[in-house]
Amino acid sequence: MIGFIYKKIIKPILFKYPADDVHNFFLKTGRYFGSKNIIKNSLGKILPYSNNILNQKVFGIDFINPVGLAAGFDYDADLMDILPSVGFGFHTVGSVTCFPYGGNPRPMLGRLPKSKSLLVNKGFKSMGMESVLRKIGKRRGIIPLGLSIGSTNRTYKKIEDMAEDVYSSFEMVLRNDYFDYFELNISCPNLINIENLKEKFDDPIGFSILLNKLSYLNINKPLLIKMHAEKSIEESLSLLEIAKDYKWVTGVIMSNLVKNRDNKSFDKDEILNAPKGNFSGKPTEELSNNLITAVYKKYGDRFVIIGCGGIFNGVDAYEKIKRGATLVQMITGMIYEGPSQIGKINKELATLLKEDGYTNISEAIGIYNK
Ligand SMILES: Cc1cc2nc3c(=O)[nH]c(=O)nc-3n(C[C@H](O)[C@H](O)[C@H](O)COP(=O)(O)O)c2cc1C
Repeated sequence: MIGFIYKKIIKPILFKYPADDVHNFFLKTGRYFGSKNIIKNSLGKILPYSNNILNQKVFGIDFINPVGLAAGFDYDADLMDILPSVGFGFHTVGSVTCFPYGGNPRPMLGRLPKSKSLLVNKGFKSMGMESVLRKIGKRRGIIPLGLSIGSTNRTYKKIEDMAEDVYSSFEMVLRNDYFDYFELNISCPNLINIENLKEKFDDPIGFSILLNKLSYLNINKPLLIKMHAEKSIEESLSLLEIAKDYKWVTGVIMSNLVKNRDNKSFDKDEILNAPKGNFSGKPTEELSNNLITAVYKKYGDRFVIIGCGGIFNGVDAYEKIKRGATLVQMITGMIYEGPSQIGKINKELATLLKEDGYTNISEAIGIYNK
């Protein structure tokens, strides 16, 4: 019912306004709703779906369900208090950068409904690490809370300086105990900060420089690398060959936005008229799925895999799990289908697992490749 109302009444109204404004409206509303117990409790009674079959302990943390909000929606930590009532099992804040950046000129966001995709051209818009940490303060979420860290979007003379920027972010974050896990975002396309650098964080030399630098810290929480969607499988695996030797790299998230406009999931007219940016949703799905399969086949349990890209329903989420993902994340499916979709995905997942004879979601992980 709520999904129907969102799709037939609320979404058509929201989609008449620029996507940047609607996103800001969502953040403000979400923050307000999160501050009111009566709203939180009411939503919490209607939207989430819970079932023991979805419970898992992953890297020592209890997850009530496997569906998380991916990095990029709540980049300044406005939604911590409301997301559990929406039905998410976990939540990533960010990407946050060491220093503030106001973002690229608008439009930073756009919609491609026929392609089931969103256009993203934020360029790591962020309040900066200090402000985000201050905003979170001592608040603790009731679902696991992660932080995605990226490099400040500005020009660097050499890759070591960019690694230093990420190192400083971690230094600040590790002084507090606010987060349950970290994401290291090495895969944001279209940043000015990589334009004049020979090495990059997503090539083997740049990646090693970054991981070596971070090794000086005591990263005492699970850390997952957010991978590129459009590198070849071999290129991605070559990065993981490096990562596997760093014990504190716990997992990988596959994957980020896509840039290639020849992607077959795009509606031709829609993509022709799209302004500058990168894309989420269905165009990311197959690339993400192929990468999950390849990484799970090669590394088994060495990396916890979070599957991300193009999840709109329970079948999409289940596919990623059967390929090897332990958890999944999403943004675009929620924008198109509405906040009630999170509970619906969990319910569909529970049904699919039961139909296949499983008693817990963990039994289905990587089943295609076993
Ligand atoms: C509006 C928007 C902003 C994003 N910003 C980030 C970001 O800051 N850091 C990051 O790691 N991924 C970012 N992403 C990528 C998402 O985390 C995710 O990898 C991608 O959208 C695929 O998932 P989806 O199809 O469910 O949206 C962003 C995506 C969207 C739609």
